[in-house]
Amino acid sequence: MRFEAAPPARPRRLAIVEGGESAGEAPDAFALAVRSGLRSRPKTLPCRYFYDDQGSRLFEQICDLPEYYLTRTEDAILGEHADAMVAGWLADPVMVELGSGSSSKTRRLIEAALRAYGALHYVPIDVSKTILEESAEGLVRAYPDLRVTGFAANYRDALAGVVERFDRPKLFVFLGSSLGNYEADEAVDLLSLLASSMDPADRLLLGTDLDKDPAALEAAYDDARGVTARFNLNILERINRELGGRFDLGRFEHRARYRADLRRVEMHLVSREAQEVAIPGAGLTTRFDEGESIHTENSHKYTPEMLRSLADRSGFEEEAAWLDRRGLFRLQRWRLRSSRP
Ligand SMILES: C[S@@+](CC[C@H](N)C(=O)[O-])C[C@H]1O[C@@H](n2cnc3c(N)ncnc32)[C@H](O)[C@@H]1O
Repeated sequence: MRFEAAPPARPRRLAIVEGGESAGEAPDAFALAVRSGLRSRPKTLPCRYFYDDQGSRLFEQICDLPEYYLTRTEDAILGEHADAMVAGWLADPVMVELGSGSSSKTRRLIEAALRAYGALHYVPIDVSKTILEESAEGLVRAYPDLRVTGFAANYRDALAGVVERFDRPKLFVFLGSSLGNYEADEAVDLLSLLASSMDPADRLLLGTDLDKDPAALEAAYDDARGVTARFNLNILERINRELGGRFDLGRFEHRARYRADLRRVEMHLVSREAQEVAIPGAGLTTRFDEGESIHTENSHKYTPEMLRSLADRSGFEEEAAWLDRRGLFRLQRWRLRSSRP
């Protein structure tokens, strides 16, 4: 995978590197994913396609909703413990964030690193180029001692580029319980890839949502104002915009359900009636029965034991962990396991 720097016209402390899906292959990759997801039974769509410009903006609104306790709880833990989370190196480590979005909560870590080391190179990775650029520009304006090199790419492609470019110690950061979008085996695959990109001096700071009362979980993914419903339906709008799809959004309903057997909240788009939808850009016409759903997202919920087991299966061990007072959310710092297979 080759990465090419976008043309400058930016502050010298800011660079955006493009590669992988977001550098040209995206329309094809999206069409192929839509075609294969809507031909499978049950129908599915990969949740990373939520995050076009509109989806990223809607996600920012979700973070401010009263029901979405995840963001403010994680932010409070970061506010209290950021100094300890970034400690441990003689000189500033490169801070690499997976799925950085607006980087709002990450400011806590950036400020703690600037306090501890006086300077920092921050490397956010996100498939959504617009939000990556906007947040990177805001950060270099806010912090004169910060350099930012953003990767507009998916995790896997960007990690290869990061390892190639930076050989200093790194603090990898993966917040927002984004890991929860992966089933256990996929999570182990991604974490193992991360482990294989790391050296013994590197650390991973991982933010994860804990299992809890199903009513609180369902409300977090089905808010009273309907913002999460718009976020979920936006994936159909994106198909309409980018692939000439003919989805009528009024004929689909947002649904979020907690599955205790799988310890996860599932989001679905349920067809209100029997219907046929043409998607010329994906070379597909797809039929729906009344009540048939498209499964769009999983958000797995964890116990501390499950997290330690995930660490072990991926080649890590827990170094430290922090929780909020109500035990809703957990951040943990992992290092490479000393006896790796
Ligand atoms: C749930 S949001 C979390 C944003 C932020 N980290 C937070 O905690 O609020 C997930 C972010 O990861 C990005 N993302 C999702 N899947 C990705 C992938 N496979 N590769 C790179 N970025 C991805 C999305 O664009 C989005 O900004």
